[in-house]
Amino acid sequence: MPSRRSFVNSLARAGFALPVMNGSAFRSLFSAEEVAAGRAPASVASDEDYWAEISRAFDTDSTIVNLNNGGCSPAPIPVMEAMIRDLRFSNEIPVDHMWNVLEPRIESCRRDLAQMFGCDPEEMAITRNASEAQEIMILGMDLKRGDEVIITNQNYGRMMTTWDQRARRDGIVVKTISLGGPPGSDEDIVNRFRAAITPQTRVIELTHITNLTGHIMPVRQVSKLAREKGIALFIDGAHAFAHFPFLRDDLDVDYYGTSLHKWLHAPIGTGFLYVRRDKIKSMWPMMAAPASMDDNIRKYEEIGTHPAANHNAIAVAVAFNRGIGLERKAARMRYLRDRWAKTLMAESSRVHVPTPLNNTQSCGIALLTVDGLDTEKLFGWLWSKHRIRTTPIVHPEFSGLRITPSVYTTPAEIDVFVDCVRKAMKTGIA
Ligand SMILES: Cc1ncc(COP(=O)(O)O)c(C=O)c1O
Repeated sequence: MPSRRSFVNSLARAGFALPVMNGSAFRSLFSAEEVAAGRAPASVASDEDYWAEISRAFDTDSTIVNLNNGGCSPAPIPVMEAMIRDLRFSNEIPVDHMWNVLEPRIESCRRDLAQMFGCDPEEMAITRNASEAQEIMILGMDLKRGDEVIITNQNYGRMMTTWDQRARRDGIVVKTISLGGPPGSDEDIVNRFRAAITPQTRVIELTHITNLTGHIMPVRQVSKLAREKGIALFIDGAHAFAHFPFLRDDLDVDYYGTSLHKWLHAPIGTGFLYVRRDKIKSMWPMMAAPASMDDNIRKYEEIGTHPAANHNAIAVAVAFNRGIGLERKAARMRYLRDRWAKTLMAESSRVHVPTPLNNTQSCGIALLTVDGLDTEKLFGWLWSKHRIRTTPIVHPEFSGLRITPSVYTTPAEIDVFVDCVRKAMKTGIA
C-alpha cells in the first residue's frame, strides 16, 4: 500500500514543490491515496471511501446539487487559500509584493502547465480564460480578404462572434458547417470538414469537446487532414484540459486554448494558450507587445495590471489534479455519467442521451433529452423546486439538459437528480 511518504515523493518527482501542498485539504488527498492503494482507475471509480476524501477538499454547499461544473468549477480549499493569501500579501504594497515578488512566480505555473500538456514552457502562455486564448488565435493570424475559415455550428458562441467580426472587418469568408445534429462518427466529422475545404481555406477552428453534448471530437484526425492541406487548426479545449488525460502529441496540434477554471479547478479567471514554438512569431498578441518579444510566448501576457494571486494558484490546482490523477478522474466522471444516463435510458423510451456513452467519445459531460418535457421548463423546475443546477442547451438541431458532475459529486446527488427526472416524467412539471 503506498504510504503518505511515497505519495508526497511521487508529487515531488513530478516537479511539485511541497509548499504548494500546505493546507488541511491536501490531507484528504493523502488519505485518498491510501484508499486507492495502487488499484486500477476503473476499480477506484466507484469507491466512495476514496471520493469522499476528495470531496472533503471542496467547501461546497450541500443544500445544492451542482450539475453544471462545466460552466465554471468551484476551486478546492487549498487553491482558494493560496489565492486569498496572495491577494492579501499583494494588497500590502502591490507595486512590490504583486509586481516584484508574486508576478515572477508565474514561471512556476507555466512550467507545471507545460508539463501537464506535454509542451515546452516556452510555448505556454497564461491567459484569463479560454475566450482570451481563442480570440488571440482568431484575431492574431494574418488573413487577407477572401481567405476562408471553416467552423462548425457547434463552436462556442463567443468565438463565432469573433470570426463574424473579423469577416465584417477584414472581408474573410467564414464557412459554418453542420455536424449533422449531435455529432456522428469520427469519420463522418472528418468528412464534413474535408468536403468544406477549398484552395482558399486557411484555418479550421474546432472544439476539442463540445460544450453542447459533451462529444469529444476526433482532433488528431482533423489535424492530419489540416496538415495535408496546409491549413492552420485552432483547437478550443475549454472543456477538455484536465477533464480526461491527453497530451499535445496525442492531438498533434499547433494551437490550443483552454480555461483552467473549469476542469483544472483553478481560480476563476485563468486559462492558457499553447502555440507551437515556430508559430509564435507570426501570431499577433491581442494587446500590443514590443517587437523584441515577437518570438516570446510571454507577448500574449502583456495585458496590463492584473492580480498575480489568481494565476499563481494554478500551481496548487495542478498539484491537486496530479494528486488525484487524470486517469482516475476520467474513470470517476464516466461512472457518474453512466449512473444517471444509463439508469434513465433503461427505464423509459422517452429518455434520450445524444452523447456517445463510451470511453473515448465522451467523459463527464452528457446531454439529456426527455420526450414531452421542455428543456427550459425542466431546467427551471429542477432549480427552483429542487435546487439542482443543470445547463439548458437549446440548439437549432437538438436540445436538452447538459449534465456535468465533478470530482466532489456524490452518487447520492446523482440519484436525487434521477429521482426528480422520474417524477417530472410521471407527474409533469407544471
Ligand atoms: C467550448 C467553449 N469554449 C470557450 C468557452 C469560454 O470559456 P471562458 O468563459 O472560460 O472564456 C466555453 C465556456 O463555457 C466553452 O464551452
